[in-house]
Amino acid sequence: MTDTTNNLKVVIVGHVDHGKSTIIGRLLADTNTLPEGKLQEIKERCRKNAKPFEYAFLLDALKDEQKQGITIDMARCFFKTSKRNYIIIDAPGHIEFLKNMCTGAAKADAALVVIDAKEGIQENSKRHGYLLSMLGIKQISILVNKIDLVNYDEKIFDAIKKEYTEFLNTIGVTAVSYIPVSGRGGDNIAQESKNIEWYNGIGVVEQLDSFHTQAMKQSKAFRMPIQDIYKFTENNDSRRLIAGTVESGSAKVGDKVIFLPSGKKSKIKSIENFNKPKSEKISAENATAVTLSEQIYIKPGELMCLEQETKPLVATSFFANIFWLSKSPMIKGKTYKLKIASTRTTAELAKVINVLDASELSSIKEKQLFERHDVGECIIETSNPIAFDLVSEIEGTGRFVIVDNNEIAGGGIILKKCSSENTIIKKHIKEREYIWEKGYITEQTRALRNHHRGKFVVITGGNKDFQNELAKQLEYTLFNMNLNSYYMGMANVYKGLGSDICSNMHSRNEHIRRLGELARILTGAGLIYITSIESLDTYEKNKLEKLNSPNDILFISINEQRLANTHKELSFPKNFAEEDIIKNIILKLNKLSIIPEYCI
Ligand code: GTP
Ligand code: MG
Repeated sequence: MTDTTNNLKVVIVGHVDHGKSTIIGRLLADTNTLPEGKLQEIKERCRKNAKPFEYAFLLDALKDEQKQGITIDMARCFFKTSKRNYIIIDAPGHIEFLKNMCTGAAKADAALVVIDAKEGIQENSKRHGYLLSMLGIKQISILVNKIDLVNYDEKIFDAIKKEYTEFLNTIGVTAVSYIPVSGRGGDNIAQESKNIEWYNGIGVVEQLDSFHTQAMKQSKAFRMPIQDIYKFTENNDSRRLIAGTVESGSAKVGDKVIFLPSGKKSKIKSIENFNKPKSEKISAENATAVTLSEQIYIKPGELMCLEQETKPLVATSFFANIFWLSKSPMIKGKTYKLKIASTRTTAELAKVINVLDASELSSIKEKQLFERHDVGECIIETSNPIAFDLVSEIEGTGRFVIVDNNEIAGGGIILKKCSSENTIIKKHIKEREYIWEKGYITEQTRALRNHHRGKFVVITGGNKDFQNELAKQLEYTLFNMNLNSYYMGMANVYKGLGSDICSNMHSRNEHIRRLGELARILTGAGLIYITSIESLDTYEKNKLEKLNSPNDILFISINEQRLANTHKELSFPKNFAEEDIIKNIILKLNKLSIIPEYCI
């Protein structure tokens, strides 16, 4: 397999029939990429079939050749100049282009936009320009093609240049060059044109050679999205291999690493390679695996970063530029799957900021959804915190895809972090409390009768059996004190209330959501509702607390290193006896005025 990592990837876009394939054919022919005699052979075949020769035919011819040696899909072709190798991505239409771009299948370093001199700027000329800018492709050259059809007229070239520059200005893009070309005649492709004397600028090949590759990637902060974790199984080996492909930067053995969003830390112990000796260093675009000095439990989807470098952002919502491809529109209140690097999570459309018609770039007012082919800005909220970068910083971890019904439904780039977290939950609670119909009995009256107030007590952090037993004993002890305590485990909430067939990640989120809603009802009814959940993270705690509001919550954390004793959290060190924990919880509940003095 050919190593293509250092090739320059160029995407060629433009309105239908403006000459993309012809220009690529010319590039292949005029840079001597074609096998000996191929051009003649195709010309001859056309002559025999009385069919006019087209340079675009060369693409098909070359595809046949390339299929024999290297993997190639329909949209790519390879050629080289004296400076370097190129991969040209010819997107058959902008939908395919978008799909390829947002999945990363066609991460382009630069773009050529082809505009037909005779037809002038068309809908897709603009739409594609906008999409390039949205995808963060900054090196863009405009080829004004078929200049032969307008008699190599400078005025027409100038007019198109002016109009397109004005358009690009509105979206904050500056083209690196405008080149008058004729794909058919070969003018200004690999050779200078004799027909266009008024033009003194560079030709297409020169332009390609002056684009920069993404060598920059190496100099950015280290990011390795974790794809998989493999356990060594032989000889009681407890090591784990953390595998992934480095997105940017580099790291070496001994470096201190941090995994985000979990925040877990360790050190790189070794860098393993498949069927190759170990290495000392890993860098951008290498698929690799590392072992860590200290064994920590991490999950695929985390980002491995270096402790001393700039960290990615960790949040549950962000501002994004989005484009929608699916037939069913993107709507609020629906759960989608979001993929960003190796992270998979569920997400919702939290807010639509604007929806644009991509060809006109005029905003469609009052629209609160994205229909097929719409583009625009929005806030996306994820069900779990995720680690990401802004696309302007690191591209691969700043770009995402949205999946609906197992299909890519849309994609986008992250513009900035959103500070108003949990907008969806907050809004939900506001609405829920607004419509909540209360009876005549107030919380106080109920507390007077019960001799205690309602409280949601969540036990977490310990091992499952210990936690469950503790929760049940707490229920039992409180019950025997004539208090209305009620234990219900996590499994009941899931199974008892009916579960959807969904992924593990999804079901845990759903678990937490149901538990929170249920707690709001039970605590509202004046019960001391006790449950136990394995390893709750800060985000999940936050969610439970919000869902249970306006009623109170108390987290009991077991096996904690750092002890907390606040109005909503009480923690215990390792090996603390069950009895003592219960005693302390009862003291705490009294202190919080949940249960009366005579109980303790
Ligand atoms: P799609 O892939 O269908 O979007 O089209 P395309 O942009 O790849 O255009 P293609 O290269 O197939 O060219 C369309 C037509 O324009 C063909 O008949 C070409 O021969 C013709 N054409 C392309 N470039 C030139 C040019 O520089 N001058 C003239 N006169 N015709 C051209
Ligand atoms: Mg074509």
